[in-house]
Amino acid sequence: MHKQLIQFVKAQCEEDATGHDWDHVERVYNMAIHLARLEHADPNQVGIGALLHDLWDHKLGYSLEDQRLGILDTLNRYMNSLSAKEKEDIVEIIESVSFKGGNNPITARSIEAQVLQDADRLDALGAIGIARTFAYGGAKGRTLATSIAHFHEKLLKLEALMHTASAREIAKERHAFLHIFLTQYEAESKHSL
Ligand code: NI
Repeated sequence: MHKQLIQFVKAQCEEDATGHDWDHVERVYNMAIHLARLEHADPNQVGIGALLHDLWDHKLGYSLEDQRLGILDTLNRYMNSLSAKEKEDIVEIIESVSFKGGNNPITARSIEAQVLQDADRLDALGAIGIARTFAYGGAKGRTLATSIAHFHEKLLKLEALMHTASAREIAKERHAFLHIFLTQYEAESKHSL
């Protein structure tokens, strides 16, 4: 399914070293489909949204308009059987996913948007979330201390922001693991010079 679209997305994120690589897309896709089944969301829209959700993200320097045009252009090319309304729905789902420092004016309205945002946020938690945080910091030339601060600024807030009960359940263990990591990190960081 969506074979050509998958090939296109893979090619786009092949070189990514910021934690937004194909493995991230694949995990978000699988989690989003899993949540869609539990929450009775449309798996087709959620799946296409997951594939395209990071390609024109603001973190990579794109505007909302760039993102909108990028998504529509890609859907016109690879998923032309979708109606204009379905394409617009997918744009809206993706626009509402980004965290944007908590200031995202577009809230996840539809259950499809909620499920996709939950799946993306779950990938920022747990062991994978920790690995991705340091990969992102490294790619941006940031210090370890800056990445540790990111746990408090963003990651530890995500569990409470989950929209669906299914995602909140999965978030619990991953959130707890962040605390385990931070406790150990602090213990090992104690030094005296
Ligand atoms: Ni993402």
